Amino acid sequence: PSSMETSLSSLSPPPVILTQDELKKIAAYKAVEFVESGMVLGLGTGSTAKHAVDRIGELLRQGKLKNIVGIPTSKKTHEQAVSLGIPLSDLDSCPVIDLAIDGADEVDPYMNLVKGRGGSLLREKMVEGVCKKFVVIVDESKLVSHLGGSGLAMPVEVVPFCWKFTAKRLQDLFEDCGCVAKLRTAGERQPFVTDNGNYIIDLYFKKDIGDLKVASDNILRLAGVVEHGMFLDMATTVIVAGELGVTIKHK
Ligand code: 5RP
Repeated sequence: PSSMETSLSSLSPPPVILTQDELKKIAAYKAVEFVESGMVLGLGTGSTAKHAVDRIGELLRQGKLKNIVGIPTSKKTHEQAVSLGIPLSDLDSCPVIDLAIDGADEVDPYMNLVKGRGGSLLREKMVEGVCKKFVVIVDESKLVSHLGGSGLAMPVEVVPFCWKFTAKRLQDLFEDCGCVAKLRTAGERQPFVTDNGNYIIDLYFKKDIGDLKVASDNILRLAGVVEHGMFLDMATTVIVAGELGVTIKHK
């Protein structure tokens, strides 16, 4: 072989760069490996959880999973699960959930989460708060050192009644952190309305919000607040898909 051929054949193949959606799918499929026949499953919401729900539907169709009951965390996931033929129930009929799988917007080193940038935080917290195991699936872009420090929104679901008043109280609560509270909109100046008929106030922080439990308690004490997107001490497993592979962390 010529010297050109020799040098070409000794080159290793170029690294495969996976898209963010491919990483989400890898994490989701890994999580579904924890699912066993007969389980009651919390079905998460968002572009990562969607892959997990698709996979559960596929395994049911192939007969590799049987007797699954899904508890969806949003109307959108409910529709997806129905289209896949996944049998569904709700918390009234199935108050104990074996395993929930869901994405997150931020994951800190202690497995605390920010959720709700998709707007489904209330139902997610209700479902994921009563599951025996809560598997969180993310691509590596979701890892942060402190919740609220990514410069992205910390969502709070509020009742529509006098939402400006509630937004102002939320902003004042975190004045020392340079907090800005904004109503989430959907299109032309229309408020985004959650599945529960509420609004979302997104909080943006310039500084670390300090003790998360204190921040959580202070938010929940405000009348008008329904729930916030900090999921503290809830995840039992976090699956992170990155360019270098998948890592699984258990509590
Ligand atoms: C929806 C959520 C989602 O899980 C979170 O926003 C992550 O979404 P995605 O998987 O699309 O990145 O909390 O309320």
